[in-house]
Amino acid sequence: MSNAGKILITGGAGYIGSHTVKLLQEQGMDVLALDNLSTGHADSVNCPLIVGDLSDKNLLGKIFSDYQIDAVIHFAGSLIVEESVSFPQKYFENNVANGLNLLDAMVKRGVNKIIDSSSAAVYGEPHYMPIDEDHPRKPVNPYGESKLVFEKILRWYAQAFGLSSVSLRYFNAAGASLDASLGEDHPVETHLIPKVLRVAARQEEVLKIFGNDYPTPDGTCIRDYIHVVDLAQAHFLSLNKLNQDSGCFSYNVGTGKGRSVGEVVNAAMEVTHKMIPIEYAPRRAGDPAILVADAEKIKNELGFEAKYSDLEIIMKTAWAWHQKLLDNHKYKQQELQMH
Ligand code: UFG
Repeated sequence: MSNAGKILITGGAGYIGSHTVKLLQEQGMDVLALDNLSTGHADSVNCPLIVGDLSDKNLLGKIFSDYQIDAVIHFAGSLIVEESVSFPQKYFENNVANGLNLLDAMVKRGVNKIIDSSSAAVYGEPHYMPIDEDHPRKPVNPYGESKLVFEKILRWYAQAFGLSSVSLRYFNAAGASLDASLGEDHPVETHLIPKVLRVAARQEEVLKIFGNDYPTPDGTCIRDYIHVVDLAQAHFLSLNKLNQDSGCFSYNVGTGKGRSVGEVVNAAMEVTHKMIPIEYAPRRAGDPAILVADAEKIKNELGFEAKYSDLEIIMKTAWAWHQKLLDNHKYKQQELQMH
């Protein structure tokens, strides 16, 4: 790998980004992270980090001229579905306009490989289950729409400029690194597993379950949870794909197995040995009853295998990380009190 250029990882200090940085470094790759630290953490990466924003075209031009970049993995973007409904402009700016700045800087310098963070949200309301990559793409919120628009842009850039891409449509990313060095730490937490663990750790009193009248065995929504280390591996395999083939590819990244909110809560109680009080609340707008990936394509074409995505492993790693996070925050509070 020593003669190859660097891999630029936008959003490298974020949740999935930082796990991917770690995994690529373990594979001996030379990585460079770019992150505006709006939600990421500088101490999540152990590689050179440029703090900056994709809206800064001059910065992008400078990065691509200062470094020999071989490929880009593009995580930077906004990802809260509910927020996207109220503030669509933020989503089209961050996920589309800023993404275009990145693509243009790449094209100018002849960098022709990109892995794109897409989402199951591009499919919208499911028409059948499990969802394969050919499922109609009709997003039901600006977040999903912004991801779909960017996928479409990639297709046109492939045709016009020979830019090759893999769009990875993530299902529900979860869990933390196996050594508890990295994990999920969002300023605003909306996702189920960290919410459940906050209740287990008595940082919140009760878990609100959004809807128990869905047409599922226990009445709660079913999702396909994929461990973040498996997700990182999917990026590594995608890079290999683009080193062998040119074109525009898209893959679901999931396990093909669905778990209900009720099952997640039970798994959390087993792993944490804590009682988790729940309260049934009205359905959350825009939540489909079931979202499960047909994950065959990525298995067959990239040799992807979900190794850590058992709910128990997801929960154990997330809980270890969560406890570490709590300890660190406690430590920081003590430091503050001492000054
Ligand atoms: N849920 C609760 N209580 C909570 C939080 C979540 O009951 O406090 C439920 C939700 O209603 C949903 C399930 O837990 O049924 C999972 O919710 P998450 O918010 O963890 O994840 P989503 O499935 O809503 O979202 C994920 C990704 C999005 C992506 C979406 C569709 O986080 O980025 O899948 O692909 F857009």
